[in-house]
Amino acid sequence: MNDTTAASPAEPAPLATPATDIPPASEPLPLTTRIVAIANQKGGVGKTTTVVNLAACLAELGQRVLVVDLDPQANATSGLGLGRQDGHSIYKALIDNGDAATMIQPSVVPGLDVIPSELDLAGSEIEIARSDDHLHRLQRALQPIRNSGQYQFILIDCPPSLGILTMNALTAADAILAPIQCEYYALEGLSVIHRLVAQLRDNGANPNLRIEGIVMTMYDARTKLGGEVVREVNRHFATHVYDTVIPRNVRLSEAPSYGKPVTLYDPLSAGTAAYRRLAEEFLKRLGMTRAPGTHVPRKLRRLPIFRITTISKQGD
Ligand SMILES: Nc1ncnc2c1ncn2[C@@H]1O[C@H](COP(=O)(O)OP(=O)(O)O)[C@@H](O)[C@H]1O
Ligand SMILES: [Mg+2]
Repeated sequence: MNDTTAASPAEPAPLATPATDIPPASEPLPLTTRIVAIANQKGGVGKTTTVVNLAACLAELGQRVLVVDLDPQANATSGLGLGRQDGHSIYKALIDNGDAATMIQPSVVPGLDVIPSELDLAGSEIEIARSDDHLHRLQRALQPIRNSGQYQFILIDCPPSLGILTMNALTAADAILAPIQCEYYALEGLSVIHRLVAQLRDNGANPNLRIEGIVMTMYDARTKLGGEVVREVNRHFATHVYDTVIPRNVRLSEAPSYGKPVTLYDPLSAGTAAYRRLAEEFLKRLGMTRAPGTHVPRKLRRLPIFRITTISKQGD
């Protein structure tokens, strides 16, 4: 699935012009449940890893989080300790206008629930495409959950394509969080997302959609390439790029086979620290802080990971 292994050209493919026309993420998201699609049409860039571990870290900070696994591969489902079960996904709700709330299941993380995926979702693209109002099916399925106010965040794990499922996610979402891998083709993927956001805003499918942020993943400090890509992405997408960069960390790749987010698999790993920092920055950018009274274990308090990062690019 990882399509990022092609040989790197000598130069990165820059965008023609810096993307200055994306609306800045300065307006606060709605105060009700925020729906964030973790999207990038490329596979293997860290979408699922980001959904699972960001969700776990937000839950650790006292937020109530629902992960919707929209990828028929069900990697977020298994990464959060759930099996793929026929009949237990968002599929029926998408096809029959069913109630997505009945599919919610608890995960291995307290405060973090999941609507799992199932293989049938793969076939749902064609069925949805034939239906009326095909772009708004997920939006409608999630509306009762959003209205219940049960969750602060709904994070949607998108498949690695720009098919109907991803388009439904982008129509249902308030914002996109786009993970990109620190490699040469990173900017190409971003420019596609950028155009898509503009399209969905302009054609009225989702007039308020915005890019919440861009998260650089799998950064390898030992290579010159990683640093160059981070600089290049910052040059084009300045305020959208998170200060937190996720390093390449073997614990992050091992955790899913144990059905756990990295916070449970290895709480003291560099991967855990990075995703905790990302969760802090995510809340800070939304003008939110950790829920009052959230317990942070004493030994973790000494680590710099719970320090609120200064986000100089945002100017706040
Ligand atoms: N920061 C990281 N360090 C090491 N491995 C990672 C990291 N992020 C993701 N991976 C691994 O890379 C592969 C692709 O990541 P994944 O999150 O599944 O991408 P996507 O959902 O975009 O296809 C997985 O095997 C995952 O475990
Ligand atoms: Mg994935």
